[in-house]
Amino acid sequence: MSTLRDRLRAEASIVGEAPPFDPSAAPDDPQQLFREWLGVALDAGIAEPHAVTLSTVDEDGRPDARVLVLKDVTDDGAFEIATGSESAKGAQLHANPNVALTFYWTPLARSVRIRGVAAAASAAESAADFRARNPAAKAIALAGRQSAPLTDIAERDRLVAENLATLEGDPGRVSPAWTLWRVRPFAVEFWQGAPTRNHLRLRYERTVDEWRHEELWA
Ligand SMILES: Cc1cc2nc3c(=O)[nH]c(=O)nc-3n(C[C@H](O)[C@H](O)[C@H](O)COP(=O)(O)O)c2cc1C
Repeated sequence: MSTLRDRLRAEASIVGEAPPFDPSAAPDDPQQLFREWLGVALDAGIAEPHAVTLSTVDEDGRPDARVLVLKDVTDDGAFEIATGSESAKGAQLHANPNVALTFYWTPLARSVRIRGVAAAASAAESAADFRARNPAAKAIALAGRQSAPLTDIAERDRLVAENLATLEGDPGRVSPAWTLWRVRPFAVEFWQGAPTRNHLRLRYERTVDEWRHEELWA
């Protein structure tokens, strides 16, 4: 019987097909390139191109990470995500706003790594994001206990059913704990895999008043 190691070794990695990309013609602003790459992913119809891993650190400096969805990219280049303030990541973001975001678009052999600082949007902006969510997502968020131990499933189901009923009568109901966050990047790396393993890496770093970019060894 093959071991897990054997099975993993037999798996191909970086199997996607990368679109043409010329780093020497890259734009000055990583936001423009990110929009291009995300646009290619959206047009390609790949599954969940907006799924992104958000890495934070806890109060002891230990990293934590989970998948979220990207809500938007602002005109001035901040990446928007949203979550409940009561969650583990919500507490971590409030205590330490230094974060990383990682995208991987498998069929395109492309990944984007972002390092930046998160800042909470206004209550009105967070409320607008909450209102745009689907009723099931709103109902569980209104229960407001994300990341707390689930000890009573019947209570959870009762609360969610109650919240769904409340939302039917009051679709504008908002969880005050729901927070839209904007991640302002100071480094953005575009990575594109190559079958030769001469992968392409283009890293942008923000200086005081402009973005600089350079290629990196893979
Ligand atoms: C594809 C995908 C999208 C998700 N989107 C969100 C999201 O936008 N906001 C959120 O709070 N959790 C989202 N989750 C759930 C998180 O991954 C995580 O389980 C939850 O937020 C609790 O994380 P925490 O305990 O680190 O706070 C998503 C999970 C997946 C797999």
